[in-house]
Amino acid sequence: MTRPRFLLPLLVQLLLLLSPAAGARWQDFLRLPSEGDGAAAGTRWALLIAGSNGYYNYRHQASLSCQFLLCYASGDALPTPCHALQADVCHAYQIMRKGGLKDENIVVFMYDDIANNPENPRPGVIINHPSGGDVYAGVPKDYTDKDVNVNNFLAALLGNKSAITGGGGGSGKVIASGADDHVFVYYSDHGGPGVLGMPSDDGDGYLYAKDLVGALKAKHAAGGYKSLVFYLEACESGSIFEGLLPSDMGVYATTAANAEESSWGTYCPGDDDHPAPPEYDTCLGDLYSVAWMEDSDVHNLRTESLKQQYELVKDRTSANGSYNVGSHVMQYGDKSLDGQSMYNFIGTDPANDNATFARDNSLLRRRFSGGAAVNQRDADLVYFWQKYKKSTEGTPEKVETRRRLLEVMSRRSHVDSSMELIGSLLFGSDKGSKVLGAVRPAGQPLADDWDCLKSMVRAYEAQCGSLAQYGMKHMRSFANICNAGVREEAMAKVASQACAAVAR
Ligand SMILES: *[C@@H]1O[C@H](CO)[C@@H](O)[C@H](O)[C@H]1NC(C)=O
Ligand SMILES: *[C@@H]1O[C@H](CO)[C@@H](O)[C@H](O)[C@H]1NC(C)=O
Ligand SMILES: *[C@@H]1O[C@H](CO)[C@@H](O)[C@H](O)[C@H]1NC(C)=O
Repeated sequence: MTRPRFLLPLLVQLLLLLSPAAGARWQDFLRLPSEGDGAAAGTRWALLIAGSNGYYNYRHQASLSCQFLLCYASGDALPTPCHALQADVCHAYQIMRKGGLKDENIVVFMYDDIANNPENPRPGVIINHPSGGDVYAGVPKDYTDKDVNVNNFLAALLGNKSAITGGGGGSGKVIASGADDHVFVYYSDHGGPGVLGMPSDDGDGYLYAKDLVGALKAKHAAGGYKSLVFYLEACESGSIFEGLLPSDMGVYATTAANAEESSWGTYCPGDDDHPAPPEYDTCLGDLYSVAWMEDSDVHNLRTESLKQQYELVKDRTSANGSYNVGSHVMQYGDKSLDGQSMYNFIGTDPANDNATFARDNSLLRRRFSGGAAVNQRDADLVYFWQKYKKSTEGTPEKVETRRRLLEVMSRRSHVDSSMELIGSLLFGSDKGSKVLGAVRPAGQPLADDWDCLKSMVRAYEAQCGSLAQYGMKHMRSFANICNAGVREEAMAKVASQACAAVAR
């Protein structure tokens, strides 16, 4: 058995203990790495990103939106805001500030097209709760507009200032953290299996899981943090870390959903409980995001562990364990970190000093029912439906909204049908949908070869147009095509056949 092997190290330790010079080292040896102490030694950093905008290229405008009611199709005639994602990120910023983080240690990415959007019923104000106050005031514009892209996000995460491009008037701040520091990353976005979206559309529109995890590995190798917590809200967000995030590099992640399901919006028009105010056509937040933030708003975070927050957020996001209109919040990476206090990462609001953690039922309350229970991927449809219902009969607005609704539906069905046909052409009509839809067991990454996945997506888009936000749901099919050993040329050929057949 292994027991005798312990004898030698133990003897060495005892000898060291006898030597006075070794006292300090012995102390270090005793200290458990997962204890909450030592947090004060380092600096707290936060990287916050809303990876979507409200205005979408007209040519892609009809194909949007995993984020439930958040980011909509829009053209000049009908500008539509992507409220909830940016509201989430603004709210997160306010929590970091109240927690005591300094602006110089917080980096915010957000397109910034909501507060002053003509569709915003309260100009200059963003709310994240039906009766909530403004969360927009004071949010730094570190990266906005086209500067919200994959390159800049990864450069900021890595603390590599010279890799930042564009710099359209933003701060250019990066996470310049060191080996004693605690880093908190919060990413709220639309997504799909293995990818997160970005507003920019210039070939840099997807952040692939492999590249994100690669950046975390590089930051770890460079001694860029003591521990790092990553909170991720997106559809199929579990697929970003599943089988990819190592457990031995001080990174702890939770995701809004598992690798196969949508995540959910909240405070939506028509909700039974806490609907958005009537003047809003959009959801005001996302369920997982609002769950961790409303919890962080009211507790003394010195007394709350990451695990306690995870449990609470999991219950709320699962619609109190029913999952019928909620998702599975997941943990990845170094789960032993979850004993640490929230305070180590995001500080605590001194106003909550007397409010120790308690499982507060009012924070769990989230009833969905009837028309309010809408999968994130149907968000764009619901938005147009809301607008359509509200607009007056016989007005140009009504006609236009109807046209847009039909366009959204036809673009979606084009993407879906072309993928189905590609499956049949590659694997036969019996097996096609089975191969494309296959889900790998937990613990395995979506794809074996991520360069292949990227090239498959490029091959499809070259023939069929951008997948855009809605089409990201087919990433698993592309991954499975790679996993089945199909080559890029074969894909290009069938994509061209399929998309010609499925006429727009
Ligand atoms: C930072 O980015 C630049 C430009 O991409 C690159 O040349 C350099 O190697 C990077 N530095 C580090 C430390 O990774
Ligand atoms: C916490 O309670 C103490 C004792 O009752 C009180 O003096 C203090 O003002 C309270 N702090 C806050 C932030 O409410
Ligand atoms: C959640 O479910 C538990 C039992 O499963 C129940 O006692 C509780 O009232 C529910 N809470 C809400 C807010 O629905």
